Amino acid sequence: MAATLSTLAYLVAAVLFILALRGLSHPTTSRRGNLYGMVGMGIAIVATLLRPGMGGGGIGLIILALAIGGGAGAYIASRIQMTALPQLVAAFHSLVGLSAVFVAAAAFYAPESFGIGHAGEIHGGSLVEMSLGLAIGAITFSGSVIAFAKLQALMSGAPITFKGQHWLNLGLGILLLVLVIAFVASGSAALFWLIAILAFALGFLLIIPIGGADMPVVVSMLNSYSGWAAAGIGFTLSNLLLIVTGALVGASGAILSYIMCKGMNRSIINVLLGGFGTDAGGAAAAGGGGGGERAPVKAGSPEDAAYIMKNAQKIIVVPGYGMAVAQAQQVLREMGDLLKKEGAQVEYAIHPVAGRMPGHMNVLLAEANVPYEDVKELEEINPEFAEADVAFVIGANDVTNPAAKTDKSSPIYGMPILDVERAKTVFFIKRGMASGYAGVDNELFFRPNTMMLFGDAKKVTQEIVQALQRD
Ligand code: TAP
Repeated sequence: MAATLSTLAYLVAAVLFILALRGLSHPTTSRRGNLYGMVGMGIAIVATLLRPGMGGGGIGLIILALAIGGGAGAYIASRIQMTALPQLVAAFHSLVGLSAVFVAAAAFYAPESFGIGHAGEIHGGSLVEMSLGLAIGAITFSGSVIAFAKLQALMSGAPITFKGQHWLNLGLGILLLVLVIAFVASGSAALFWLIAILAFALGFLLIIPIGGADMPVVVSMLNSYSGWAAAGIGFTLSNLLLIVTGALVGASGAILSYIMCKGMNRSIINVLLGGFGTDAGGAAAAGGGGGGERAPVKAGSPEDAAYIMKNAQKIIVVPGYGMAVAQAQQVLREMGDLLKKEGAQVEYAIHPVAGRMPGHMNVLLAEANVPYEDVKELEEINPEFAEADVAFVIGANDVTNPAAKTDKSSPIYGMPILDVERAKTVFFIKRGMASGYAGVDNELFFRPNTMMLFGDAKKVTQEIVQALQRD
């Protein structure tokens, strides 16, 4: 009876997780999606605690682990800066990977507790699941640690490459497969640990050549791996819910990676083989702001911007990473409201990889209560720039850079961009002439229809709001 109830509860939790993913696909339903996820996880935990065979001591340990892990998670989540979320996600993925390694080791050394045989006589199927969970978990762990270190600037974000790297990775991948087969055939402890060491090394080697703007795709890929590692553990533990949840995370992470690659117009293979933002990016960045023959940059004041926008009919706001850093979303919405009162149409253009994480700009604009119907995706808004009086670019750079369309040597070549230069006037709010994430110069700053508004995004926008209110 208890077993049936627990299975039923797992089913309900699995359905809630699916509804959570569905809810999270749109800003209007995302809060509900989060709620479904939390309720589903609550049900899953209670159902696990009530499963038959769960001794009192076990429950005590689990509750202790939940309190420590949950407390640490809540503390970190409440203090984390929005801009540091990608590295936090990478750090969390590393823990999922490591736990897969621990579960595999526990199952290997105490097979009786898992009901998968006896020491030295573990069922063949269980050895397969165990070794796959171990290998994927170890790759996820070391890969995520490198992704974290790169995003947190603990090590250089530039790709680390050397001759024959891809061949080495391929060779190690094949060797890993051979070791898994040999381990399944022999059940040898030495092979178990060899797989672990090789997989840790492979995770490290796979991520070091990936740099710059490809990191978000990698974090999402590692998210997917961590899901598959969890599904692997689910098989080892014969836990249906872990299999379903792991597969959901694995599949949704893979889909997200695909969507991001599409947003950057890159193939997943190309991303995974690394090298984005290498020499070309460095060279372009080194030229940043220079380029002798360029027209001088035209800098304006917040008053100039307020005056021009007051007389504009159509304004398209392009938020980017700098808006997130400055936390300018609230005052930006105030500016939009004032301009709407003046009779202007105000829309917000979202590039799929603006900011530093998927949906970064959507979240910030939603937080500032910008109406969802004013927020437009790239394909939808691009044809509208030609009719716009003003493109108001606030803390965005790479996502507007036309080099992505024309310069084959540019590391962002092929990435679709927001066609801001087609608007009559383009404002760029940024603190100086620095390049963006990909480290490349943006020639739009030098165009005759561009006016630079130098300063912190929040401060400049506040001054524009004051100027709009004064007149
Ligand atoms: P970026 O190209 O990184 O440009 C941001 C600009 O904001 C910088 O040029 C910076 O110039 C300015 N800035 C920084 N702090 C500011 C502040 N307080 N006030 C005003 N301006 C400030 O940003 P983007 O256009 O949003 O493009 C995103 C880039 O990040 C892409 O290359 C993308 O591939 C990459 N990326 C995306 C993600 C995801 S999934 N969204 C994750 C990781 C990386 P100043 O220093 O001169 O002020």
